[in-house]
Amino acid sequence: MATRKLGFSSQLTFLSFFFLAAVLASSQLSSTFYDNSCPSALRIIESAVRAAVAAERRMGASLVRLHFHDCFVNGCDGSVLLDDTASFVGEKTAGPNNNSLRGYDVIDSIKSKVEASCKQVVSCADILAVAARDSVVALGGPWWSVQLGRRDATTASFSSANADIPSPTSDLSSLISAFSKKGLTTAEMVTLSGAHTIGQARCTTFRARIYNESNIDSSSASSLQSKCPSSGNDDDLSPLDAVSPNKFDAEYFSNLVSKRGLLHSDQQLYSGGSTDSQVSSYAANSAKFCNDFKAAMVKMGNISPLTGSDGEIRTNCRVIN
Ligand code: HEM
Ligand SMILES: *[C@@H]1O[C@H](CO)[C@@H](O)[C@H](O)[C@H]1NC(C)=O
Ligand SMILES: *[C@@H]1O[C@H](CO)[C@@H](O)[C@H](O)[C@H]1NC(C)=O
Repeated sequence: MATRKLGFSSQLTFLSFFFLAAVLASSQLSSTFYDNSCPSALRIIESAVRAAVAAERRMGASLVRLHFHDCFVNGCDGSVLLDDTASFVGEKTAGPNNNSLRGYDVIDSIKSKVEASCKQVVSCADILAVAARDSVVALGGPWWSVQLGRRDATTASFSSANADIPSPTSDLSSLISAFSKKGLTTAEMVTLSGAHTIGQARCTTFRARIYNESNIDSSSASSLQSKCPSSGNDDDLSPLDAVSPNKFDAEYFSNLVSKRGLLHSDQQLYSGGSTDSQVSSYAANSAKFCNDFKAAMVKMGNISPLTGSDGEIRTNCRVIN
């Protein structure tokens, strides 16, 4: 009996190994994708990101968010970078992006440098994935090996950007379903939200929280109210992590534990629900957060990439070839 049981479970292990291998292979991304075709690509991107972040620390946050907003709309395919055309309205003016997403000029400049070295080899979608990683590193966060080989979309979707990018007014259950729709678990949603350890948000995105919610630290609410009036000044900025806005650390989670989350959606992760324990564990263990973040970014970067002969390698990230 014991022997049969052992035999059965090792068969299962054997099968699941091949299943896993097949799933991994099917994405067709690889960390060595440009090693022969454009060996300078990663160095070019890294040094440009480092310079952009040195010139303006917030740019690191903005580049991380660009990759997220790319991946959540029809996969990580560079669609977020396309300008409007006669045949489609792009994603740049969709609700979550309009007057908010930034860093397009930095990506354009990286793309021209990469093109000057290797013509039409490196996709805009991959540049976004690498720039996100290099931004996290430039702000003191962890390094991970970025999977490469994504190709660029030839269209974009205004309506999917509105539908699929989660809103700061979301409750926990909507956050969970928005990520689940992209194949990401609740735990990965919490981990990836830790990106809000860097960057800024506009008054309009957190006004209702700082004036009307009760699960907010009162001194934090009043200091935010002094920078974000109850009406007007919609675009005035406050840091998502007031303690260390330009440092990639686990402070975001400590803030949630002390009811200092900036967005309604942030505080939802620590509001008596199923994700509280993960938030507390990251607040107490930043190394655990950083490790999980690396894996979750790889997983997010794997959302429906175009590979093989699908899509194209754009020469200008703003327009299809
Ligand atoms: C969980 C659901 C999420 C919601 C509801 C959300 C919402 C927001 C909002 C409203 C802002 C401020 C935008 C503005 O005022 O212009 C913001 C900023 C930001 N978000 Fe998220 N976000 C989420 C998840 C993520 C994820 C998964 C990442 C990356 C992995 C991310 C990265 C960022 C960064 C870095 C900023 C600051 C950008 C800057 O300073 O330019 N967010 N987010
Ligand atoms: C985007 O923002 C601009 C400037 O605030 C505004 O005029 C425009 O109507 C917005 N676009 C959409 C689609 O909401
Ligand atoms: C706060 O809630 C009240 C009552 O629902 C509403 O009238 C007011 O506009 C809200 N204030 C903000 C800043 O959202």
